[in-house]
Amino acid sequence: MLVTQQPLLKRFWYPVMPMTELTARPQSFQLLGEPLVLWLDGPGKPAAARDRCCHRSAKLSNGDIINGAIRCPYHGWSFNAKGTCVNVPQLAGNTIPPSYRIDAYRCQERYRYVWVCLDDPLTDIPHIPEADNPQFRQIPEFYEPWRCAGLRLMENSFDNAHPHFVHAKTFGVEQEPVPPQPDTFEETEWGLRMRYVLPVFNSEVQKRNLQMEAGRTVRISEGVWFLPFIRTLKITYPNGLIHLIFTAATPIDDRSSQIVQFCLRNDTEAAVTAESVIAFDRAVTLEDRAILEGTDYDVPLSISDEQHMATDKPGIVMRRKLAALFKANGKKSSGIEPGMKTVSE
Ligand code: FES
Ligand SMILES: [Fe+2]
Repeated sequence: MLVTQQPLLKRFWYPVMPMTELTARPQSFQLLGEPLVLWLDGPGKPAAARDRCCHRSAKLSNGDIINGAIRCPYHGWSFNAKGTCVNVPQLAGNTIPPSYRIDAYRCQERYRYVWVCLDDPLTDIPHIPEADNPQFRQIPEFYEPWRCAGLRLMENSFDNAHPHFVHAKTFGVEQEPVPPQPDTFEETEWGLRMRYVLPVFNSEVQKRNLQMEAGRTVRISEGVWFLPFIRTLKITYPNGLIHLIFTAATPIDDRSSQIVQFCLRNDTEAAVTAESVIAFDRAVTLEDRAILEGTDYDVPLSISDEQHMATDKPGIVMRRKLAALFKANGKKSSGIEPGMKTVSE
């Protein structure tokens, strides 16, 4: 699957950037091969548009924000969050032709990140109840491009056969390579949900992070996959600590994904520092990255093109759900009116 060849993928919301990145000036981002300019068009209100001026194609992300509009660095035309040209200095106040406009995209803030949808959304941004629960604190963890397909990372998150090998230095129990069966596994309308109990060992860092003395524990885990490239992993430890990891593999282009990860925990900075939490998750994440960046980015959706074992069921369901969605919506997605691409007036 080449993500840029699937128009339907434009109809999902993706987290593209932490809100804090937009404080000082406009930014650029590439989403599904589409160059974007992102800026704040009002206090805390992000906007997204194609990062090309309709005059001579200059990059708007090199421009400035004037009264909430993005001003092109080349000749100073300004565009609002709907893509309408609102100022042309050379026209000296005369009427601006309506054809002076750029493609603007749906854009909103959620969980302290800027989310963008390039087309008519099929579904909403995933709801994470813990994010609204004041007993949880949010820790931003990683924001970086990986040279791998998002689908590889999604299935990796639900693959209980890999921790014993890939994470042998951080939490995997090397001596127990036969993974546990999931307690429950259900397909949802927009993804899947899996609960399982995974035995893990506690490194010295984890003993501190989990406030536990024991060298071994279990993770009571609930993983949720949200089509196409978002997952949450809610880990509950026997002492009641909850560590919920949100990870998105936002598709930059066919070969790379922007990893957006934060966690939510029901403890305090005084008990466990964010720095220590990040340090452990960083070590785990780099172990996955080392493997995943070596995999083929053109992930086959056909089940017969790779070999499988029982623990690959989530990855197989992901392939089937994506293939079914593309098939069912093929006509609809290729028949989208051009006007639907832009934010309505
Ligand atoms: S290229 Fe943008 S105003 Fe000329
Ligand atoms: Fe992993």
